[in-house]
Amino acid sequence: MSIPPRAPSEAPAPSASAVERRRHRGGTPIQIGLLGCGTVGGGVLRLLADNARYLGERAQAPLVVRRVLVRDLDKERVAECDRALLTVNPADILDDPAIDLVVEVMGGEDPAGAYVTRAIEQGKGVVTANKMLLAMRGPALVDLAIERRVDLAFEGAVGGGIPIIRTLREAFAGDWVESLTAIINGTCNYVLTRMREGGVSLSAAITEAQAKGYAEANPALDVDGHDAAHKLVVLAMLAFGARVDHRAVFVEGIRGIDETDHVFAERFGFAIKHLAIGRDLGASIELRVHPALVPKSSVLANVNGVLNAIHLEGRALGPSLVYGRGAGDLPTAVSVVADILDVARSIVAGVAGLQTRGITMIPRPLLPMSEVTSRYYLRFPVADRPGVMAGLAGPLGEAGVSIEQMVQQGASGSGAAPVDVVMITHRAREGSLREALAQIEKQPFMIAAPRLLRIEDR
Ligand code: NAP
Ligand code: HSE
Repeated sequence: MSIPPRAPSEAPAPSASAVERRRHRGGTPIQIGLLGCGTVGGGVLRLLADNARYLGERAQAPLVVRRVLVRDLDKERVAECDRALLTVNPADILDDPAIDLVVEVMGGEDPAGAYVTRAIEQGKGVVTANKMLLAMRGPALVDLAIERRVDLAFEGAVGGGIPIIRTLREAFAGDWVESLTAIINGTCNYVLTRMREGGVSLSAAITEAQAKGYAEANPALDVDGHDAAHKLVVLAMLAFGARVDHRAVFVEGIRGIDETDHVFAERFGFAIKHLAIGRDLGASIELRVHPALVPKSSVLANVNGVLNAIHLEGRALGPSLVYGRGAGDLPTAVSVVADILDVARSIVAGVAGLQTRGITMIPRPLLPMSEVTSRYYLRFPVADRPGVMAGLAGPLGEAGVSIEQMVQQGASGSGAAPVDVVMITHRAREGSLREALAQIEKQPFMIAAPRLLRIEDR
């Protein structure tokens, strides 16, 4: 059954008695409805069971899972899942007045969005790990939660088990985040690490990431960069107070990277990472997601496998880093259960909605990608014959792009076999570089499209 969202004006506010019933209720169990029982939902059930006593003491009320929504009642589940609680009817959770708190770990924009909306309208606290939903509808859901005086908590949505949402919302409350540079897709980082260190192909590494529970239900969301872009939009809400149209964020994934790029990157002293980058430029913000070369000596170059890291620059604090496992059942469940505890404690204390009220966002324009400046790694597959260097350097020079280093590999001497000419440029405006590449692509010696990777060394 699918429940369509209601317009806010149609939705009744929770009755005073419903709010009152949830207040000062120490000892009375907090009843939880779980939407989804896959990788993350299974991890949440395991942690809630393993740490039940400790969590109950901290919440000052037992945390009890009352119903679990799934698609398939017959599927195998973690041992901690009581099959008697399973349902395929969302109304069993959303319309059950005894349920205080809904945990959404289904994924996708819909029907998850409709269910979260309905839960908030019913005066229930919501915990979600769904970054796609937050990137697409986060501001509207936060507004609704504030209006209905309930909490919407989403630590699990970014960085798996890393406490980045709390860090931005609470620890940075007195500072101004100037920039963030982050590895926030565990699957991409795992795949790039396996390709570089294990010589594994892209498709084999993706299969491994799926088996480990790191990848999205549709792994293209990871590999094509969209999952990291969703997370960047969520980070921008908290770091820069920005309401951003997620479709405007520049996104590139890792499909174009091959072994040759890893070898050249290494030769120039870099490692290839999939990064999400945000900068507050005052009049606008810069948000982009793409693979990039980072110096081998940098902290981010040494974040490998499923690990994630977010490097923050605070105006007063200076640099800081949060680091840990960015995907998988139990790491993500740690974040989700921490949110469950927070929301439960707020309900018990009669201050539901307080933490969500602290989130403020305004529309911020994005810097066009053509205005972004960077150093670049450029790889040109060319025919090995006289005049090629001039044909590459000429358009770059005319566009004001200065070459810092250059190598040619695979010289055949005959001019027949392709060779790679690889350049590292000085910092240049992306729009200028694109103009030069458009000219170079028309040259008869070009055998395939040039590869462009940005260098992130700030
Ligand atoms: P998953 O393993 O595919 O689990 C999804 C669960 O939701 C399944 O139990 C599925 O039911 C249920 N479900 C999906 N659509 C449904 C529908 N229309 N009606 C009823 N039940 C439905 O996904 P996951 O990896 O746990 O991810 C869940 C969420 O957490 C996603 O938003 C994801 O982006 C996010 N997340 C995942 C990770 C991670 O490492 N995996 C980390 C952080 C955040 P069936 O089991 O019956 O199919
Ligand atoms: N698919 C996501 C990743 C899960 O690989 O990072 C964690 O959000």
